[in-house]
Amino acid sequence: MSDLMSLNAWQPLADHYQQIKGEHMLDMFARDTGRFDNLSMQAAGLFLDYSKNRISNDTLPLLVNLAKERDLQNRISDLMSGETVNNTEQRAALHTALRNRSDRPVMTAGQDVMPDIRRVLSQMSTFSEAVRSGQWQGYSGEAITDIVNIGIGGSDLGPQMVTEALHRYCKPNLSLHFVSNVDGSHITKALQNLNPATTLFIIASKTFTTQETLANAHTARDWFLESAKDKQHVASHFVALSTNRDAVTAFGIDESNMFAFWDWVGGRYSLWSAIGLSVACAVGFERFEELLQGAHDMDLHFQSAKLTENMPVIMALLTVWYVNFFGAVSHLIAPYDQYLHRFPAYLQQLTMESNGKSAMRDGGAVAHNTGPIVWGEPGTNGQHAYFQLVHQGTHLIPADFIVPVESLNPVGRHHPMLLANCIAQTEALMRGKDRETLAMEMKDQGASDSEIKRLSGHKTFSGNRPTNTLLLETIDPRSLGALIALYEHKVFVESVIWDINPFDQWGVELGKQLAKQVLQEIEAGKSATAHDASTNGLINCIVKRRNTLA
Ligand code: F6P
Repeated sequence: MSDLMSLNAWQPLADHYQQIKGEHMLDMFARDTGRFDNLSMQAAGLFLDYSKNRISNDTLPLLVNLAKERDLQNRISDLMSGETVNNTEQRAALHTALRNRSDRPVMTAGQDVMPDIRRVLSQMSTFSEAVRSGQWQGYSGEAITDIVNIGIGGSDLGPQMVTEALHRYCKPNLSLHFVSNVDGSHITKALQNLNPATTLFIIASKTFTTQETLANAHTARDWFLESAKDKQHVASHFVALSTNRDAVTAFGIDESNMFAFWDWVGGRYSLWSAIGLSVACAVGFERFEELLQGAHDMDLHFQSAKLTENMPVIMALLTVWYVNFFGAVSHLIAPYDQYLHRFPAYLQQLTMESNGKSAMRDGGAVAHNTGPIVWGEPGTNGQHAYFQLVHQGTHLIPADFIVPVESLNPVGRHHPMLLANCIAQTEALMRGKDRETLAMEMKDQGASDSEIKRLSGHKTFSGNRPTNTLLLETIDPRSLGALIALYEHKVFVESVIWDINPFDQWGVELGKQLAKQVLQEIEAGKSATAHDASTNGLINCIVKRRNTLA
């Protein structure tokens, strides 16, 4: 495939960038009173304002030409119709089938995947209802009070983010805990106040070979058996979510307690599959289905809307615009909702594991930048931490502001204050403050001319810093499903433009491989010589210290 810069659509965009790069958004708003109406849209219950971006009415059509040259429309069809879009692992990526709420069959490798998906959904429904109603009992005959999901990466971030986001819909008296880190402190702290007789462990791992998850699962089983004594009780306290039946049974979990999924479900796209079991237990299966429905709504929009009116496509093309023309290297996610506090972390895996690549689909090296660094914290906390850099730093940092219009906790003036802060930040980032305005303000406050001169370089804001604002009516399962699917598709569109495979993650393998070797050396307690001087030196410091402790 040809490189981005050699596409016919590239040069007109490069010329357009030269024209627009010096323009201030304030002037664009002043010139065009219809800018907000022209550059905002609705889809699947979400409202997107993208008018505070460094674009004119000509920019999007030029970016869409790039997408057309990359055959985006057909690539979307390939994604949704089970083609082998993950070319390095020779797999489809059918997360959209997991939330297909229609009767449409979805074929891959000559087989309709929908009957299997429906079978597992029904198994999840039965199980989650049994746990929630108290019909599923632990070894002492008591109902389950605590669920511990043990997994990492996509087997943790997705279900954890969703259960946090849907906290208001969670069943009281059923507490959810998530253990991911191999640091023993994580599982120790999680188990500290739990009663083995009323605790259910969900071992979530697509491969069931992940070192961290298996270490935590074994520790959990040992902790459980210390009280339960009889291994037969494992059956009512441990269930597995996996594609690897043999490894699940080898661990000692009965096949009947396994919830299957398939190799065409990527780890970071798996919360819609059996990996969502903890969510279904927490909020109930009907709510889980509403989450699927919200994502399906966004899938339908993504599949059918024109590219110029397609929310994930527009957001992706804006990212391409900033990364490849303005040289942006990071993207801020600012959810103005405390329940969405894990959303930036979730998006970090979704976007960076997907598009953090330097090889094109055919294996050749890319000659352009790809996925930006994604980061963020819920507003308004970020305002009192890193927003200084976003407003006045030397880097251009495009940002997404996400806020529900209606609060689930309408206490006092909190929500109007939250909304005001969210909107004001996007205005400030766009508008900035020039020297004249600052001088007037300072004069009004009684500052002298020399004082104004001394501080004006520090107290002015260039503005012209781009933001998207996403409004949700409220945080509920359906709007959350649509929001997550929006970002999944945005990431996919970016990958198509950059001609990279977003569904593999070879970059995580080298560290895992080396960790096995280093682990052996640390446990052997002998001095290491096989590495570079730094790595040997560090291992030897650790070994020496451990040997003195032994
Ligand atoms: O190491 C990265 C990764 O493979 C992620 O892609 C995945 O979500 C995570 O590890 C966990 O994998 P598993 O679900 O197989 O334990």
